[in-house]
Amino acid sequence: MIKIAPSILSANFARLLEDVQRVERAGADYLHLDVMDGHFVPNITIGPLVVAALRPHSRLLFDVHLMIEEPDRYIDSFVEAGADLVTVHVEACRHLHRTLTRIREKGAMAGVALNPATPPEVLEYLPGLFDLVLVMTVNPGFGGQAFIPQTIPKISKIREMLDGAGLEVEIQVDGGIGPSTAPLVVRAGATVLVAGSAVFGAPDPAEAIQEIRQAAKG
Ligand code: DX5
Ligand code: ZN
Repeated sequence: MIKIAPSILSANFARLLEDVQRVERAGADYLHLDVMDGHFVPNITIGPLVVAALRPHSRLLFDVHLMIEEPDRYIDSFVEAGADLVTVHVEACRHLHRTLTRIREKGAMAGVALNPATPPEVLEYLPGLFDLVLVMTVNPGFGGQAFIPQTIPKISKIREMLDGAGLEVEIQVDGGIGPSTAPLVVRAGATVLVAGSAVFGAPDPAEAIQEIRQAAKG
């Protein structure tokens, strides 16, 4: 079963809760919250305050994607704010093993994100420490960028690695996902599709979610 994770990065921040409730009613599975610090990526977005403000109003799984330096400093705050899943970037963690362990100790699911140029082999050395792998299909920082097709063989490779190790781990893809790219990533082994502009940039976000879901069936 493919899961759809609308990214609020492309929502209307002046009417954020309305947009969240819209995609929740439309059958979204996760709510993808992009956290950027202006250092790890050029852009700046939201912090734990916004996560906490939305939390009482939604039953969606809160999927917090940390695109920040030194994510360890903020794990507790995000989990306390209501994150169900906290994903950190391999490139931002000096002691990734410790960071993933800390996320789970704090009571959240742990995700590992890989930038387009980051090889997947690092995952082999973190057995059983993560619940989700996030394969970035654009360079992180902005919504609305073009999908990078060279990431497809990496998704397939990670799917093989996980299946070979008998691990039940989701593969999430993020960046440039819409009806035309969804079938490609799902065929390669992705199970959770993040979509920002394809959902919130559409005239009807509910219809856009259905279109992506339909397209993902191949
Ligand atoms: C990009 C973010 C994405 C972003 C995706 O750095 O991590 O979650 O919202 O946007 P689209 O779906 O428009 O490419
Ligand atoms: Zn993201």
